[in-house]
Amino acid sequence: MKNKSLVSINDYSKEEQERILDLAQEFEQEPVQNILKDHVIASLFFEPSTRTRLSFESAVNRLGGKIVGFSEAGSTSVKKGESLRDTILTVANYSDLIVMRNPVEGSARFASEISSVPLINAGDGANQHPTQTLLDLYSIRKTQGSLDNLHIAMVGDLKYGRTIHSLVIALCNFNTTFHLVSPVELKLPSSVKMHIKEKNLAYHQYTEMDEVIPHVDVLYMTRIQRERFSDPLEYERIKNAYNLHRDMIRHTKENFKVLHPLPRVNEININVDNSPKAYYFEQALNGVFVRQALITSILGLK
Ligand code: CP
Repeated sequence: MKNKSLVSINDYSKEEQERILDLAQEFEQEPVQNILKDHVIASLFFEPSTRTRLSFESAVNRLGGKIVGFSEAGSTSVKKGESLRDTILTVANYSDLIVMRNPVEGSARFASEISSVPLINAGDGANQHPTQTLLDLYSIRKTQGSLDNLHIAMVGDLKYGRTIHSLVIALCNFNTTFHLVSPVELKLPSSVKMHIKEKNLAYHQYTEMDEVIPHVDVLYMTRIQRERFSDPLEYERIKNAYNLHRDMIRHTKENFKVLHPLPRVNEININVDNSPKAYYFEQALNGVFVRQALITSILGLK
């Protein structure tokens, strides 16, 4: 994996993804080490973030590395009209690895192709969010004991949800049965569904989640994303389509867990948070270990 950019989850084979998860398990045991000493990571966030940006920073800081970068492009020369190309060519001179989030689909692939250092896609528009997928896989494996043969429900914005797109593609390697719950306007795109069909895996589509909950191992909730709608009225109409309450998860399988990439808005009531079935904040913590594993692998240090 040395020097190998991660733009789409399929850039890494199933075996490479599992190697990252195994390594993340080691970092979870020992998250503070000095192996990134003398390494500089660039963190370029052209779009807002809490978990992804800060967990990357936490991962690097705990390993003794340095982070340079920005959390909004308004404070950079992009404001003066500088192109993404010139920004990447410049920042590659200052760092050993670039982490980038950008609202434009395909921007991460473009940046990885012109960069002289490897690049990690931290989310490109509605396309992909592969590091979230690695931490989702880690969280699922940790809570379920295995990634194989699970029934996984995905709820919310399956059309624009980049975490959904990457996760569906990754789970196709593990004989998953998919339960896809969304408003009709936000169904999983056919380009992503194609991956499920290619592997001859079972998938079921619903508009309500109640009937699904008792039968699945994992309920992966997502936010209806206001920023992806061109029509604000359309967003207002469907923004409250799903609202998970604690009483809705009373009769679930013993191994059942609720995951969410976060941030949430209204789709999970806070009365779920104290349930032993809620796992989303631990899931966010797992992002630190997975990103430590990814960075050290790409830099050839592990
Ligand atoms: N899960 C996730 O990408 O969260 P942030 O947008 O806060 O980084």
